[in-house]
Amino acid sequence: MTTRPIIIGSERSEVGLPAGMDLLRHGGSALDAVEAALRLCEDNLEDHYVGTGGLPNARGEVELDASVMIGSSRAFGAVGAVRGFPHPISIARAVFERLPQHCLLVGSGAELFAEEQGFERAELLTDEAKRLFRESLAPSDESVEGEKTVAARGDDRYRVTAIELVKRFRPHDGPWGTINVIALDESGEMVVGVSTSGYPWKYPGRVGDSALPGTGIYCDLRYGGAACTGRGEMSMRVTGARMVVDALARGEAPSQACRLMLAEAATLPDAYAAELRTLCLTPVGQHGGAAGQRGSTYNVMTTASTVPEVFPRTPL
Ligand code: GLY
Repeated sequence: MTTRPIIIGSERSEVGLPAGMDLLRHGGSALDAVEAALRLCEDNLEDHYVGTGGLPNARGEVELDASVMIGSSRAFGAVGAVRGFPHPISIARAVFERLPQHCLLVGSGAELFAEEQGFERAELLTDEAKRLFRESLAPSDESVEGEKTVAARGDDRYRVTAIELVKRFRPHDGPWGTINVIALDESGEMVVGVSTSGYPWKYPGRVGDSALPGTGIYCDLRYGGAACTGRGEMSMRVTGARMVVDALARGEAPSQACRLMLAEAATLPDAYAAELRTLCLTPVGQHGGAAGQRGSTYNVMTTASTVPEVFPRTPL
């Protein structure tokens, strides 16, 4: 029996989903589709939350996290805090395909592995990202506290804290959002992939939920796959993606499964009142998403699509 292919992704995945669907339409694997879609997102210079053009850490260095998980085997590969390589999703794939036993490599070890495997290097810090980095360090007077959402005020508070962190570093002496993609192929295999530069001005070496199974990513072909964007520490604290898949396993509808996880995260004390979003896909192609606030969306393509269709996420 063949399954009808589908690919879904978070906000800003639209630059990659058509390439992923093109592969799926021609019998390609969910793994190839997820990788192809995310590589295009990683190459999108206008996106400052993933790949080349990603915003740097507190030292002005771009550090990338990415992971991939296979639904049938729950095989998992990930990299964290990788510098100088523009396609962390491909390195994450290579970790589980070519490195026996390993699931996750970070920092210099991940870079050594990428070098050995012949992955291309590139300068990831673009002039635009540098400009945004510098400007963000200047105090802003445009915020009108009363007009901001809780999440925006939380981001403001985080920014002030981050600036305090940045002040502790000497200038560097050498040099958010995350994208989720979930694909189901005609053989019935499901794969989830995630790629990110993490949140801007993060502490050097910080690895987020995007590289950690069960938190920013999870896939179990019996029930479905899920992934998160937003403040990764919140999904780490509730094991977000695993919670969504567990809710699917209990028979919850996709949007409700996502919403239940966010409701749990919202019970935690969080000084930055951070935004968290999630989406999921079931083995029969049902999908859903949820977000902490109204207006958030996700993208879907089926074999009948010519362009990604935008769906609203259920607000918490
Ligand atoms: N969710 C991505 C991150 O926190 O890095």
